[in-house]
Amino acid sequence: PHISKMSKPKVVVTRQLIDQAQALLDSRNDLDIVQWNSEKPAPREWLLENAKDASGILVMLSDKVDEELLAAAGSQLRTIASFSVGTDHVDTAALKKRDIRLGYTPTALTDAVADLTVMLILMAQRRAGESMGKVLKGEWPQMPWHPLLMTGPQIGGSTVGFLGFGRIAQATLKRLLPFGIKKVVYLTSKPGQPAKEDHFGLLENPSIPVEPAENWEQLAGESDVVVVGCALTPSTKHIVSKDFFMKMKKMAVLVNIARGPVVDTNALVEALDTEQIFGAGLDVIENEPNIPADHPILKQPRCVLLPHIGSATIATREQMAEESVENLLAGLKGEAMVNEVQL
Ligand code: DGY
Repeated sequence: PHISKMSKPKVVVTRQLIDQAQALLDSRNDLDIVQWNSEKPAPREWLLENAKDASGILVMLSDKVDEELLAAAGSQLRTIASFSVGTDHVDTAALKKRDIRLGYTPTALTDAVADLTVMLILMAQRRAGESMGKVLKGEWPQMPWHPLLMTGPQIGGSTVGFLGFGRIAQATLKRLLPFGIKKVVYLTSKPGQPAKEDHFGLLENPSIPVEPAENWEQLAGESDVVVVGCALTPSTKHIVSKDFFMKMKKMAVLVNIARGPVVDTNALVEALDTEQIFGAGLDVIENEPNIPADHPILKQPRCVLLPHIGSATIATREQMAEESVENLLAGLKGEAMVNEVQL
């Protein structure tokens, strides 16, 4: 039977995708595809306008999925596919209320982000940003090699505290074990209780102590390295606060690979200023990407700040793109997604 263009389900895609994923999408002649074909984020007005009558929307973490968008789309909307592991940009309660499914990509990026986490730990402990800064400014001639030049703490023997102990944290632990870390403490939404999932078979018979912390005070106080890897929720916002830094060891470093607002930036700047902690490695920060050159965090030589590139390997981004399209299509057909958030 003839299917008119009007009867094709409409899908909205808020960014240009990558090779295979784009080809998979383009091959779907049975869909009415509306795509923001750019590397830049789709303007909110464009999304609100084009969401009307959509059955599915593929979003980036920069697109807010809220009541306003769902209302603009209409009651036929069946599925949202997010090109991300984080879902703090999505009002999950609003989706649940309307019976809209949510796909995401929690497994595709684990290795890439865990690799970057190790890099940030080492960069923070070994003063990589500070050292490179001096070389780039031509200051090396004024600082010839000497025994204490640019010395910092060592990863071997460190106690590592994970705030959030999901896939990425556990994949980071796997990478850190060969460095000879001494102990791991972790805090989840269930303090004092063993982790819900053992993603890589590391927790049953660990070669070093791997223990749940009773509270954040214990985690902050014991750790030489604090890794923030938890989801951003109302209860984790600013959990790394002035009080948290006050409890940290003076030689400890903080690494955030999760979401900026988990860490209170003003408190971090103060902790670095007053040498309350040794250093920091951040892949995310509050108000990103709006960090102007005169932002106080950029005046901190012991802070490495990257522009949210944790999952930015070519292979990982390709896989995230493909899984996002697969989730979108599965959502339209009522089939199983690669990964779906249980709302
Ligand atoms: C995510 O997926 O949530 C990361 O922040 C970017 O890959």
